Amino acid sequence: MSMGLSGRSFDSARALALRWPRGAGMKYELVVVGALETNCYLVYCEETRACAVIDPGADHEKIVAAIADLELKPVVVLNTHGHVDHIGANSDIIQKYGVPLAMHAADTGMLQVSDYIELSLLLGARNSPPPDRLLADGDEVAIGRTSLRVIHIPGHTPGSIGFVHGGILFSGDTLFSGGVGRTDLPGGSWKDLERSIRERILTLPEETLVLPGHGPWTTVGQERDANPFLT
Ligand SMILES: [Fe+2]
Repeated sequence: MSMGLSGRSFDSARALALRWPRGAGMKYELVVVGALETNCYLVYCEETRACAVIDPGADHEKIVAAIADLELKPVVVLNTHGHVDHIGANSDIIQKYGVPLAMHAADTGMLQVSDYIELSLLLGARNSPPPDRLLADGDEVAIGRTSLRVIHIPGHTPGSIGFVHGGILFSGDTLFSGGVGRTDLPGGSWKDLERSIRERILTLPEETLVLPGHGPWTTVGQERDANPFLT
């Protein structure tokens, strides 16, 4: 669930693979899924093809096809937060590949999408199983021979987290290109969101690439200088 978005096209996000820091050992593929155009990212170790599936929100067939195309081996499903458009295909991916689910404890109460029946029908979302692993700030998630570091960035939801590797941040619905996550849904907090963005995201190096949960990529420097919600 996102704010209005503007700016660069999804093609830019694809081209971004070329800008992944050399020697990082990790790459990603973007799969846009569902009626709310959620960015599902396949983040993978180049050497082993081990892959994390971040936010399989819907359209599990598209995600499975991309995994097959790239000859990836899923090892974990990660949720940046518990909203239905980010978790709606958790169960399909988990069952297909027999992988664990990892997310922050504070959002585990959102996994029964039958609680939001109209939206879940629209999105074709299914109830998610509970997480196998609870993630907290500073945790590392291994993906083959590389890993993602967890940052806890509450505000959009209490359990919102980001994943950092090298010069890349997967920001979920906390920060978008020219926008920020909405805070009017249950558990949302503008105060927390602003603190998370200012203290945990804008303090990253300005060239850090931000890959959000919806819409085009951006950078920490671009959002610090020009995001209308932060200036
Ligand atoms: Fe959301």
